Amino acid sequence: MSGFDTVVHLIYLLCATAFVIGLHLMNAPATARRGNQVSAAGMGVAILTTLAVLIKGGQVDAWAAWALGLGAAGGTAAGLIAARVVRMTAMPQLVSLFNAVGGGAAALIALGDRPASTQAEVTGVLDVLIGALTFSGSLIASGKLAGRVPGRPITVPLGRAAVSGLAVVAAGLGVLVIGLDAPVTALYGVAACALAAGVLLTLPIGGADMPVVISLLNACTGTAVAMAGFVLESTPLIIAGALVGAAGAILTKLMADAMNRPISAIIAGGYGTGDAVTVAVGAGSAAVREITADDAAIQLAYAAKVMIVPGYGLAAAQAQHEAVALAQALTSHGVEVTYAIHPVAGRMPGHMNVLLAEANAPYEQLQDLEESNPAFPRTDVALVIGANDVTNPAARRPGNPVSGMPILDVDKAKSVIVIKRSLGHGYAGIDNELYTEPRTAMLFADAKAGLTALLTALQAYAR
Ligand code: TAP
Repeated sequence: MSGFDTVVHLIYLLCATAFVIGLHLMNAPATARRGNQVSAAGMGVAILTTLAVLIKGGQVDAWAAWALGLGAAGGTAAGLIAARVVRMTAMPQLVSLFNAVGGGAAALIALGDRPASTQAEVTGVLDVLIGALTFSGSLIASGKLAGRVPGRPITVPLGRAAVSGLAVVAAGLGVLVIGLDAPVTALYGVAACALAAGVLLTLPIGGADMPVVISLLNACTGTAVAMAGFVLESTPLIIAGALVGAAGAILTKLMADAMNRPISAIIAGGYGTGDAVTVAVGAGSAAVREITADDAAIQLAYAAKVMIVPGYGLAAAQAQHEAVALAQALTSHGVEVTYAIHPVAGRMPGHMNVLLAEANAPYEQLQDLEESNPAFPRTDVALVIGANDVTNPAARRPGNPVSGMPILDVDKAKSVIVIKRSLGHGYAGIDNELYTEPRTAMLFADAKAGLTALLTALQAYAR
């Protein structure tokens, strides 16, 4: 090995270390930003080093230099603009788009770089298969999250049979490529089958199961990238892909556990196609009790214990600062305040933790589902802010899109105040019978405006 090669390998080792340290720092909200920076720096150095290797090997002629320069400039600009302008609430669909880009890029590598060895051909076929499936599946998932594709489960007639058929054809073509050195068109056939399967597999998934799908596609992106690393014999790509694949797989398991569903059943589809829960919570229903901000503030001020239950509406309204300000005001008033965080509240893993950390909510006040549920019966007021599905008691019954999902037992608190704009549905698209329960009062408002009104009323009352 030449001195240059040794230095390159050492730099790659440093980059891989940066990926691992970065991932570790992402364990806690306080260090997550630095973790991102460390990982990005590692990837930046890996890209520059690879460029140096290509140039030294004489692999970059004038055309390739243009292609690399324009590709890097275009990709960097698109990434920077997307990251700067995207609203926090649109982050999940952006992450899904990034998954699509990662999977698609990995598949293109194997399509464009015919592997030399049988081992590389195996990983090349797997790369095309997983990468192309991730590409189309992530585009559909992103569309569902952005509301461009209907979020409800879309069942395609004979869809499951078609996926099985596509899997058989793709496997046959893959064997031809690996065993019989079939022309590259066979590999394009594998890609076409995988693209179609990605669409057919993602369309029927809906209701509340999207968190599992997004993390599964994330795991697939990492795996495809690792396979691309084998095709290119690139150590940093293999390590980065393996880390993303492993992290995504762990997250998928955690999300599936949080939804109390087997991963296989979610992939097979079918959840969320049960009968919708119909309870009398239509607008103007007599069963719904409304409350004003003034009355709600008095109820909160008299409470000994308040549990704040944030959900997607808090994120949509960007009301995290107001929620934390209200919690602080209550705490200084002598009320014990905690936040009950459901693992799939919002639209991305850790969504509520990120928002509340941004607003400097004390970590010790953040409680997960297991910690929160036993505390609801001794809670005076459960203050639900823009959360819906994660509080829906219908989850305790079979036959609806949230069936079996563990929920936050807000209905077991002594009283419940829900801040949301209307009786509108959550992501799963079903009514929430919590709203008609006698101990529930609805404060119909945008989360930010409602919390501001509550805080003003509380301050006036406490004066
Ligand atoms: P949702 O069930 O989606 O309900 C959010 C509620 O917020 C809506 O009912 C809406 O009612 C209200 N809302 C919207 N904008 C508001 C605003 N500006 N001010 C006040 N309220 C507002 O939220 P959730 O309880 O957090 O549950 C999350 C759901 O998303 C679950 O079904 C979960 O499976 C799914 N999901 C989660 C993820 C991840 S990884 N977390 C990813 C994809 C999907 P109004 O219109 O009446 O105001």
